[in-house]
Amino acid sequence: MFDLASIEKFEHIATPFYYYDMELLGRTVDMLSCLSARYGIDVHYAVKANVEKRILEMIAGRGIGADCVSGNEVLRALECGFPADRIVFAGVGKSDREIHDALAAGIGAFNCESLHEIYVVNAMAGAYGLRARVAVRINPNIDAHTHKYVTTGLFENKFGIARHEFEALVELLGRCRNIDFTGLHFHIGSQITEVSEVFSLEARRAGEIVSWFEDKGLHVADVDFGGGLGVDYEDPDGNPMAHFEAWFKAIVENYHRRDGQRLHLEPGRSVVAQCGTLISRVLFVKRGETKNFLILDAGMNDLVRPALYGAYHKIENLSSRFRKGFSEMQAYDVVGPVCESSDVWGQGRLLPMSVRGDLMAIRSAGAYGQVMASRYNLRDFAPAVFSDDFDGAPRYADYFGTEMPDALQHLRPAARIPGTDPESAGRI
Ligand code: LLP
Repeated sequence: MFDLASIEKFEHIATPFYYYDMELLGRTVDMLSCLSARYGIDVHYAVKANVEKRILEMIAGRGIGADCVSGNEVLRALECGFPADRIVFAGVGKSDREIHDALAAGIGAFNCESLHEIYVVNAMAGAYGLRARVAVRINPNIDAHTHKYVTTGLFENKFGIARHEFEALVELLGRCRNIDFTGLHFHIGSQITEVSEVFSLEARRAGEIVSWFEDKGLHVADVDFGGGLGVDYEDPDGNPMAHFEAWFKAIVENYHRRDGQRLHLEPGRSVVAQCGTLISRVLFVKRGETKNFLILDAGMNDLVRPALYGAYHKIENLSSRFRKGFSEMQAYDVVGPVCESSDVWGQGRLLPMSVRGDLMAIRSAGAYGQVMASRYNLRDFAPAVFSDDFDGAPRYADYFGTEMPDALQHLRPAARIPGTDPESAGRI
């Protein structure tokens, strides 16, 4: 993914930063648009995965809709060019203000997650003299076979309306005068890798549930199967593109589409994960009692997935590619600077011998990376740098008041660790 020219440019940028490959993002979005047309399934990008304006603008510009989970995401989507009627708004806990703003904007649909919410949306629409389009999120009780923190479609999860409330739901919808019921919404989890198995099951279960509501006399115009398609964290270069087609197929082959019915998908991770990389530098190399540590300048506050879910992200030493000759491999525990023992990027990772100043890439970080960052330890937010616009990047020199040594200088580790011999500077 990284050619030497971009790695040289990285040398001048202050780390850590998020790097986005806009060419890969463009190809991914084009692929989605193409499949969307071929299979007749409308796509809404799950904005929560990455809210960078440049990224949203590119996605909106190619005709994809937006799936939002907060009022601010709705406002951001509007600002970045998503037409209001192409925005859906999900989430179990929408505040009055969020509901108001979305109503005023005239969004495509509220994906409501409880009877209580439907009641409140109806009341607010009435009070403001507006109409709300409402799709109802159902809890289909399907195991997505993924991490327990990203499983959403089981009865034990807080999401969606459960079977025992269906009768009451039909009765409530019948009484709501300010709501247009549009259809049903499902989303069973994230980073789903058993694509055909899990999504076929979801499609078949959705079919049964749609029939149940039709039997009660409701017209189900839209069926939204949510997001959840997994990506390859182990081999992002081998599989830069998720198995989109298998996903679309699993839906159309297992769901009997009614005449004129619109089907929808809401991918987040699979759109943006692989185009993003967290670029960091080695600060120090340390020999612990039982292992070697590589201490990076990026930490769990920049990308919390490993600390929060034990998630795997591939780690690469980009600078080692510049070094002449054979680079000895060593096992490292790669860690961040944050004062928490869980601030670990990976344990026992086999990497080329690494030295202070080496640029390190933490791959597949485009989804749920920057958006979940915090300022814990009062650390700065890592900014975004785009492959087609290096000019806006924060320069390393600006932080230090002096021009950084030219890119190739850092290939001489001795220049960075005075008094050490270049050959053994990083050896421990
Ligand atoms: N639709 C709804 C209603 C959702 O809740 C989500 C994600 C999506 C679509 C998009 O799912 P995706 O295609 O991205 O799997 N922070 C976690 C992931 C949380 C996903 C939450 N919901 C992580 O870093 O793995």
